[in-house]
Amino acid sequence: MASEQVQPKLVIHGGAGSSLEGKGGLEAVRKSLREVLQIIYPLLLDGVSAVEAVVKGCEILEDEPRFNAGTGSVLQSDGQVRMSASLMNGFTQSFSGVINVSRVQNPIKLAKFLQTSDDRVLSDLGSLELLRELQLPVYNPITDLRLNEWMEERKGNFNKSMASVVSEPAGTGTIGVVALDIHGCLAAATSTGGKGFERIGRVSDSAMPAGNYATGSAAVSCTGIGEHIMDECLAARIVIRVTDGFSLKGAFERSFAEAHEHKRDFGAIGIDASGAIACGKTSEILLAAFHNGIDIGDTLELNHGTLIFMA
Ligand code: GLY
Repeated sequence: MASEQVQPKLVIHGGAGSSLEGKGGLEAVRKSLREVLQIIYPLLLDGVSAVEAVVKGCEILEDEPRFNAGTGSVLQSDGQVRMSASLMNGFTQSFSGVINVSRVQNPIKLAKFLQTSDDRVLSDLGSLELLRELQLPVYNPITDLRLNEWMEERKGNFNKSMASVVSEPAGTGTIGVVALDIHGCLAAATSTGGKGFERIGRVSDSAMPAGNYATGSAAVSCTGIGEHIMDECLAARIVIRVTDGFSLKGAFERSFAEAHEHKRDFGAIGIDASGAIACGKTSEILLAAFHNGIDIGDTLELNHGTLIFMA
């Protein structure tokens, strides 16, 4: 932890993909992302920890139905929502998360609780038990839009029974928040409803160090096709490169050059301990926005070039 106060930094994402249409268009997405920056950045200035900031930012994004996490999560092959979320405290270098949890408004709250637990990653049954233990209210995150999307997809397709667990073309929504606080501590949080139409029991990268990772040197949250993120072990790969001496820019450049070579479809956001911010993508669109203490910016119109860096 730095002894002097540092300028806090914040970067968030609402997923990656090929179009903004299903999310209400560019201006609507921009407004949603900026609102989160405008709530969370002042908290960081007031001295809130990076962990508290990323959890709060995640909760707001989970509550925004246009993004695929919490309320508005996509439905799986059997028409159910199963969400995954994780939190990594870079200062203590501790990871916690929940995998395929249902009936909760904010999966990230469970990940936060688990930070201080002996057992730090819980899957479906364990998450349900934890929900009961914490007495969190039962919540239905399914929106009409998501239900209609699922029903449209299933129209004339009922020979694929719910139990046949057919994996459909991948979606790429996720939300994530990365912060550097005034004490120089980093944290990352990521939450998702998964790919949509996936097999029952499929596990998302969002609750793995592949999709969400932090040390005292850097913190990264990923979005995109989870299997591609796992194949590159993207968040951990970038963070460990920085921890081993790469600049954040160098780590993003190297990791995204590899990702292009391997034809991956994803995006990532990150901050290092010096306050540098980076956003990268191989997908067509990355819904990311950042606050560096002076400016607010986003990647929504990042068509030419695939990386953004701010020292
Ligand atoms: N990146 C989210 C998922 O594939 O589940």
